[in-house]
Amino acid sequence: MKVGYFQFEPTFGNVTDNLDAAIAKISSIDCDLLVLPELAMTGYQFTSQEEVRRLAEPVPEGLTTQRFARIAEEQSIYIVIGLAERDGHHIYNSAVLVGPHGFLGVYRKLHLFFEETLFFSPGNTELSVWNLGNIKIGLMICFDWIYPEVARTLALKGADILCHPSNLVLPHCPDAMVTRCLENRVFSITANRVGKEARGGKQALTFIGNSEIVSPGGHILHRASPDQQELTIVDINAEEARNKAINPYNDLFGDRRSTMYGW
Ligand code: ACM
Repeated sequence: MKVGYFQFEPTFGNVTDNLDAAIAKISSIDCDLLVLPELAMTGYQFTSQEEVRRLAEPVPEGLTTQRFARIAEEQSIYIVIGLAERDGHHIYNSAVLVGPHGFLGVYRKLHLFFEETLFFSPGNTELSVWNLGNIKIGLMICFDWIYPEVARTLALKGADILCHPSNLVLPHCPDAMVTRCLENRVFSITANRVGKEARGGKQALTFIGNSEIVSPGGHILHRASPDQQELTIVDINAEEARNKAINPYNDLFGDRRSTMYGW
């Protein structure tokens, strides 16, 4: 199957223009599963609750989910995209999954990073795996990478591919995802953004790019540049992720000693 990411640079707050640009870019690609960054159409560095509330959208009725659902249907592709989700009084940092038959589900980021804690409610959706026919995918968002429990839980629930919309500013995650894949024998697609934001007199944030696709053996199948927009698609055999045998004596999941871990 063909899987990819679109490493994108949104203009802060300009959701309609960002949507037009992203959708134009993906409107004729040959791909089965595409991942876009965290908060991909709004930008990241919010300065007030009012600002994030104004830019957040209900799911699935909001513009971002609807536009991506339409293109997913037209192109017969699965797409994961990060967005600010408004649900009553709560705003979540979420990722939605849309596919050939429309909206499939939402994941709300469990582990908020830095000033996200000022603007978003911590996620309240379970770590879930979606069955896309012959493969299963799990969703996690950016800083979730630093909790190995997230990737492990998704893998134990059967995920073959971790879809990982991100807005990374620290350098560690791209290398760490190699370990997440190796220790769970899964693929990952980390879609990061590029560019800089310095809003409301705050310290500038430089997003590190380096989006990547990693195999269950821990091989980086492709890693993007640190600073350019980039659409990358690679061919994978997702079933490789089903083989948890390390050697004839060791099975990654079968050998877990969960009763001895004590937590
Ligand atoms: C992050 O979680 N956006 C670093």
